[in-house]
Amino acid sequence: MTKSEDREFEEILNKYLEHPEVKKMSEYCAHGNVSVLNHSIAVARCAYDLNRKLKVNADLDTLLVGALLHDFYLYDWHDASIRVPLFKMHGFTHPEKARENAVRYFDVDDRVQEVIRCHMWPLTLRSVPKHKEAMLVCMADKMVALKETIHDR
Ligand SMILES: [Fe+2]
Ligand SMILES: [Fe+2]
Repeated sequence: MTKSEDREFEEILNKYLEHPEVKKMSEYCAHGNVSVLNHSIAVARCAYDLNRKLKVNADLDTLLVGALLHDFYLYDWHDASIRVPLFKMHGFTHPEKARENAVRYFDVDDRVQEVIRCHMWPLTLRSVPKHKEAMLVCMADKMVALKETIHDR
């Protein structure tokens, strides 16, 4: 990212990054040794890059806020004491939890909620990303998760 892109990125996300509930994401692990906060920042950067390289012309506020908050579920999903049936497992349920928290703490609009709700597609079959910001974050999340997992092998 160039300096001006960095500035643009920070201008949009600083308000969120300074929020105590967002900071809590640093306490939970995403993949490997990567915290949920660092994973989410990496997804936002990746989505930003994809948007530019593919000339998607996405709405940057929707894209970056949705990306930063896509895993804003605020619990440790590795906790073995949480035993639940398959359809209630973390992979299926955390987008809804993250969406609820995003509405609760930031009152995010419908488009940002869509980005969060659909990011696990195709695992969550019926939550198909329908707009470009949701598609970019869905793709960026998988690219970043793959990178984080491979580096841990
Ligand atoms: Fe996720
Ligand atoms: Fe994620």
